[in-house]
Amino acid sequence: MKTKDNIIEKDIEKLREEINFHNYRYYVLDSPIISDAEYDKLIRRLAELEAKYPKLITPDSPTQRVGAKPLEKFGTIKHTIPMLSIENAFAVEEAKKFDAGVRKGLGISHSVEYVAEPKIDGLAVELVYENGRFAIGSTRGDGYIGEDVTQNLKTIKSIPLCLISNPQSGIHNPQLKIPSRLEVRGEVFLSIRAFKHINRELADNGEALFANARNAAAGSLRQLDPKITASRPLDIFCYGVGRVEGVKFKTHWETLAALKAYGLKTNPLIKICNGSEEVMEYHKEIERQRDNLPYGVDGIVIKVNGLGLQEKLGMRTRNPKWALAYKFKAQEGTTRIKEIIADVGRTGALTPVAVMEPVEIGDITGSVTITRATLHNQDEIDRKDVRVGDTVVVARAGDVIPEVVMVIQEKRTGKEKTYTIHEECPSCHSKVEKIGAIHYCTGGLSCPAQVKETIKHFASKRAMDIEGLGDKHIEQFVDDGLIKDVADLYYLKKENLLKLARWAEKSAENLIDAIGKSKHPTLPRLIYALGIRQVGEHTAHVLAEEFGTLEAILPLYPPHGGGQGEDAYKERLLSVHDIGPETAESIYDFFQEMHNIKVIEKLKKAGVVFPQMKKAVGKLTGKTFIFTGTLSSFTRDEAKKLVEKQGATIAPSISKKIDYVVVGAEPGSKCDEAKRLRLKILTEEEFRRMLGL
Ligand code: IVH
Repeated sequence: MKTKDNIIEKDIEKLREEINFHNYRYYVLDSPIISDAEYDKLIRRLAELEAKYPKLITPDSPTQRVGAKPLEKFGTIKHTIPMLSIENAFAVEEAKKFDAGVRKGLGISHSVEYVAEPKIDGLAVELVYENGRFAIGSTRGDGYIGEDVTQNLKTIKSIPLCLISNPQSGIHNPQLKIPSRLEVRGEVFLSIRAFKHINRELADNGEALFANARNAAAGSLRQLDPKITASRPLDIFCYGVGRVEGVKFKTHWETLAALKAYGLKTNPLIKICNGSEEVMEYHKEIERQRDNLPYGVDGIVIKVNGLGLQEKLGMRTRNPKWALAYKFKAQEGTTRIKEIIADVGRTGALTPVAVMEPVEIGDITGSVTITRATLHNQDEIDRKDVRVGDTVVVARAGDVIPEVVMVIQEKRTGKEKTYTIHEECPSCHSKVEKIGAIHYCTGGLSCPAQVKETIKHFASKRAMDIEGLGDKHIEQFVDDGLIKDVADLYYLKKENLLKLARWAEKSAENLIDAIGKSKHPTLPRLIYALGIRQVGEHTAHVLAEEFGTLEAILPLYPPHGGGQGEDAYKERLLSVHDIGPETAESIYDFFQEMHNIKVIEKLKKAGVVFPQMKKAVGKLTGKTFIFTGTLSSFTRDEAKKLVEKQGATIAPSISKKIDYVVVGAEPGSKCDEAKRLRLKILTEEEFRRMLGL
């Protein structure tokens, strides 16, 4: 029996080692060599064995990361060596002064060897390993006494539960002994992505948001229920040690290399810098990379490399003389929203913008005063519950437009006012429509904010195809007040152009000629050229085929011809295959806007010929079809095109008006409904015969 138990124990141990290794590949090196499914399989196998032999469960088993019971409150841990803070510097001079102080303290005139590291924006923790096993983990606390967050730290997958001594890791160092005691220090953090995700979830549940990734990391680690911590993808970078027993290091660099060799995660951007010049370069380099890093970095930390030198320099009261935090400019600030306005972009999208009391926010180029920040869209305003008068956190990163991150709820006075985006475009007073999360101005043909883009689209190759009319010309004409809408193009005269810069007799003549030639578009091109939102080339074709003339699309509804009203009009559009509700809405809104109709009339007056498109006529003219199930010899689209070619139309939904229901394999509920309505049902074979195929 004993031997059987021994065999199982060995199996379990091997399995754990294997899991730890793959865990390390995935979470520390970010370079897995097996699939998630294979990894899960290993974990399951271990869990099964442990369930069968509970006596063999050890606290450092990979199955023991989650599962600890919620605590009433955290216990406390006294750090064997205090976790001190470091002196801060914000300017080059201060960093140079630090270097001068170090050299003076060491009595040397040559340059000092430093280790420079990104200063990770998270919270400091200490991990205690006893004989290679993770035993206790704590927060920094006041530097002397921290909170016991062992169970929560165990849920962080990049923290090894036992230090690696596995030659397979590729960094196995046979000379490097596992210390009998190792106190590791590092920064626990959340990636920017994870932080945003958590805030989105909190907002969805109506809970208070975290102001930044650091608070989110601290909040996540200091949960009494380890299950909540486990659900937050916390990570760690280890950057130093406390007490170490059983091994000795000579430099900080060597210490970091050993931590890495033990399977702990260290930051890949850490570098040795010789003297202050190289440190300055490093600071610049990390600040440049800052916005592209997946985690927050608020500066660099410089440490004298030699541990003997560190000792020689010694301490001030609260921080060591051998380290400096050389910070970047803050990218966040707090201010009050005075007003919210809507900005109309060149595509007609309305962006709500907060107009704020001036606030200084820094970036790599220095500090800038900001008075406006984007609120993105109405859904975001509602999600963050931003109101006029609110005190908010604004952030700026690199070239990105500053944004309102969150409201500081505690500063609410009750006098704040909610904001709802305008129903009218602030630029041209056309109606505003919502597509997805974005509000758009529907006055595409006449809106001054959009005019350049509208004309560029109108003149483009696949639309009216006005040869020789480049984007630069359009910008010049609009900027010089020569044209205000697309129709104005057809009123341009050679003399007008000759008055402008860079136009000569010949070039002006050529352009006027080309504009004249564009007066005879095909109907699909004309429809496409109008730039109706959601109406691309394909939909323009479909509309042209269906309605035959532009006028036929226009007068179906008031104010043109007092036709069928909004619902009937949209229903008519929806009965056309390939036109969905959003497109129907968009077409309706576009033609409903009088500003657009005026421009269309102006185009006609200018001599643009509105062509006719002949509708296909065939033996199925006037008949209505609907399809259900899968056809074997053609796709649904091919079948639809075939019947349309013969003059038939496709119905959007089942009704008594339908002439033929074509039923393929595995038909849906439409088939039952068709039977109930006693409609004529065709099998694929009958359908083929009808088409003469
Ligand atoms: S070394 C005595 N290295 O910054 C040296 N700290 O104000 C102790 N931090 O409490 C710290 N990244 O939370 C060090 N690479 C890094 C760091 C780092 C972030 C934090 C840590 C510490 C604070 C120092």
